[in-house]
Amino acid sequence: MDLKEYLTGKLPEEYRQYIPRSFDIIGDIAIVEIPNELKKFRKVVGEGILSINKNVRTVYEKASAREGTFRLRKLKYVCGARRLITVHKENGARISLNVRTCYFSPREGTERMRIAKSIGDEHVMVFFAGAGPYPIAISKHSNAKEIVGIEINPKCVTHFKRNIKLNKVKNVVPVLGDVSKVYRNFHGFDRVIMPLPESAWKFLKEAKHVLKRGGIISLYCIFSKTEDEKFWRERISKTLPKAKIISINKVLPFGPGKMKMRIDISV
Ligand SMILES: C[S@@+](CC[C@H](N)C(=O)[O-])C[C@H]1O[C@@H](n2cnc3c(N)ncnc32)[C@H](O)[C@@H]1O
Repeated sequence: MDLKEYLTGKLPEEYRQYIPRSFDIIGDIAIVEIPNELKKFRKVVGEGILSINKNVRTVYEKASAREGTFRLRKLKYVCGARRLITVHKENGARISLNVRTCYFSPREGTERMRIAKSIGDEHVMVFFAGAGPYPIAISKHSNAKEIVGIEINPKCVTHFKRNIKLNKVKNVVPVLGDVSKVYRNFHGFDRVIMPLPESAWKFLKEAKHVLKRGGIISLYCIFSKTEDEKFWRERISKTLPKAKIISINKVLPFGPGKMKMRIDISV
């Protein structure tokens, strides 16, 4: 049963149109966007989510857009157990995190698997690694020799280290730091994954620096009406004039008229 069906009769009929069609589930915590019109019924909505999802124990409401370097949003407690730390299961991996202090999107599980399956016996660098879902997926589902993950948010790195132990992976190295500073310590990688779609392009020079000749960058970015394929080709060639674009792939819708994309680039 979906939330709209479940809430029929539990809310005045005129509010039915505002019931959210979807919400994210991270481990046993649900995160929902409640439209202004429905705010006074937030508890009813939250209780509905708990009732129809037996594995969900806590509901939070989105209280801001994603902000700042750490890409975090404010969360407002709605109902259920008062907890922020959970363990999310995807692709046979367990990812521990605090939903308030660490970025994580459960919608990217399929993309993480796609990336992992495309990797051979390589040295892989993951910029913007968060709590480690990309490095751990790559370790579990590829023959990568070593995977280094750089993350600037110390609270994420605490979970990243915990996740390495939780998943018993031996070839993942977490690094706490700002990519624009610590990149100088790394050379000779086969591939760099850059999952920070809003601003990863600003770090293309750093990515090239850590790669060996012929290495591949997987750059995540946002396509829109104005920032289309032509725009991104020009932006990339301005920074890396000799680079070749190997492929351009859709990842996920990113709000109205926008699409998260992955551009694979050979340097
Ligand atoms: C969109 S999140 C992706 C996190 C993770 N890869 C995932 O898929 O869940 C981007 C991450 O990059 C980190 N970040 C942003 N700027 C950074 C920088 N200059 N150096 C290192 N990490 C950075 C943020 O703290 C955030 O955790």
